[in-house]
Amino acid sequence: MKPLIFVDRRLPLDVLQYLEEHCTVKTWGKDEERNPEKILHYLQDVVGFFNSGSVKIDNKLLDAAPNLKVVSTMSVGYNHFDIEQLKQRKIIGTHTPYILDDTVADLVMGLMLSTARRITELDTYIKEGNWKGNEGKKLFGIDVHHRKLGIIGMGRIGEVIAKRATLGFDMEVMYYNRSRKPEVEAQLSLTYVSMDHLLEQSDFIVIMLPLTDESRNMIGKEQFAKMKNDAIFINASRGGTVIEQDLIDALQHGQIRGAGLDVFAQEPLSSDHPLLALSNVVLTPHIGSATEATRYDMAKLAARNLVHALQGKEDAHIIKELL
Ligand code: DGY
Repeated sequence: MKPLIFVDRRLPLDVLQYLEEHCTVKTWGKDEERNPEKILHYLQDVVGFFNSGSVKIDNKLLDAAPNLKVVSTMSVGYNHFDIEQLKQRKIIGTHTPYILDDTVADLVMGLMLSTARRITELDTYIKEGNWKGNEGKKLFGIDVHHRKLGIIGMGRIGEVIAKRATLGFDMEVMYYNRSRKPEVEAQLSLTYVSMDHLLEQSDFIVIMLPLTDESRNMIGKEQFAKMKNDAIFINASRGGTVIEQDLIDALQHGQIRGAGLDVFAQEPLSSDHPLLALSNVVLTPHIGSATEATRYDMAKLAARNLVHALQGKEDAHIIKELL
């Protein structure tokens, strides 16, 4: 008998067909309204759960899914997993590393460029009919090339950002990470520095860390105070690594020049959120991995992870804390 699974998002047809070859698939009805209580209902008899990446795997959900053996999230981040609970209940959690690194790194470069050169702000300026042709310095931004970039977190995505910055933009790249990466340093001419040095010296600061107890609220008032007044801060990893109110204060008081943000403490952002009123901020709605090709690859990998983990194969990308 095929294992019973629940899929909580629409999938490309071939990915759905692959799942159906190996599993009995339950999913949302065509026009069914999706809500967390209904997910609990769907999960009551399944052994596998294809998680779009946004459903919290907590006690409540796990209590409602007594047969659950594998949760496969279609995301590289898994801060929505209660790891201890998964461990205790011997449930496997898988995620989708590697395949989105370049796509996220592209967005980070886009946020840097857009914030530094004020691309979205000036796009609005033209569209609102303000371009008179005699603006002078009014439209000037700052350079990205040959400036100093500090990357907090040198995982795989950090590395591909560093590669773009050094090879493409001639930037001087420094990084701070829990552990040093001598090979990456040598390969990409990076300098390993203390957190304080990075904050004080960088023209652009990119935080690229998973959200953990250690990284939660890592950047706040004290860290913004150390940054240059001309610094641009970029976050495309997780909103919870930054104390958002402190970031807003720093932006409002000119403590830093600007920010490019793809992630937030609460998503989606409310329509009256103070960040929306700031012209020195470029915002995107958590689209780091959101290109058609990458999302397709992620769906395929998450499906394969789910099937392989259910079959007991060792090549599913099980999150490291559960290995
Ligand atoms: C991830 O995969 O973790 C990205 O943030 C997209 O959700």
